[in-house]
Amino acid sequence: MSMVELREEGPIAIVTINKPKLLNALCTNVLNELKELFEKIKLNKKIKTVIITGAGEKAFVAGADISQMENMTTEQGYRYSTLGQEIFALIENLPQPVIAAVNGYALGGGFELAMSCDLIIASNKAKFGLPEVTLGIIPGYGGTQRLSRIIGKRKALELILTGEIIDSKKAEQLGILNSVVEHEKLIDYCMELAQKISNKGQIAVRAAKEAVVKGSNSDLNSALAIENSLFGLCFATEDRKEGIKAFLEKRKPNFQDH
Ligand code: CAA
Repeated sequence: MSMVELREEGPIAIVTINKPKLLNALCTNVLNELKELFEKIKLNKKIKTVIITGAGEKAFVAGADISQMENMTTEQGYRYSTLGQEIFALIENLPQPVIAAVNGYALGGGFELAMSCDLIIASNKAKFGLPEVTLGIIPGYGGTQRLSRIIGKRKALELILTGEIIDSKKAEQLGILNSVVEHEKLIDYCMELAQKISNKGQIAVRAAKEAVVKGSNSDLNSALAIENSLFGLCFATEDRKEGIKAFLEKRKPNFQDH
């Protein structure tokens, strides 16, 4: 049976990691299923926004599967990290925006997964942390790099070196989250947000995501060049003609995504 499920509601894809008994821990099978699914989503023009969440009441994802790491060699450890990093880069660079709906524990690889998404919405019951040092290892799915880019080197080091687990309120204060919502309302809230994004012209949405994601991983001059070229490309689209015409005619635009 599949451990990663896909449900489509109109233009929105809801991806659920479904291994609740083990708190949705990322074993290699789950990672490979995620890879296969996101490669399909990437090519599916009907999907405009993606939500990713965890099954069950307790966890979003409680990390990489610790039991798989018990007897790993150095070479296997290196490859385990490469696999996770590749999949999270696929998610970060997906053309469609991805929202993490964090419904519980987001620890280790689970927090790293959330950080590779574009927006993070958390339940008031969610918990975040990179507790890898308590296992004698370090975050290996991008956590040491993405967290410091999100909250700065010093705050990131505090969380990584202590392995402290924080609640959603603290995570919001640190600037990790977009919003914290009541647990029961998490998915409805994310669906509304996804719908708002899906209602916009998708060429502009994708170009804006690309500019921000690629730009935030580049130096300022290269980042401005990325924005510059994507801004120019928008002028080759019918959506740009329609969006500007609609504004001038004081009506809602009717975007056709071309
Ligand atoms: N890997 C494998 N199994 C896990 C797991 C993980 N990351 N997290 C939880 N589980 C399993 C538990 O072993 C337990 O299994 P059994 O029922 O078979 O005993 C089951 O899920 C339920 O967990 P608990 O009984 O521990 O639940 P709890 O409510 O008492 O505690 C918790 C919850 C605090 C999240 C605790 O499970 C925990 O600390 N989990 C590990 C968190 C962690 O260290 N994550 C980092 C992993 S390393 C990593 O991610 C590396 C990387 O960057 C690539």
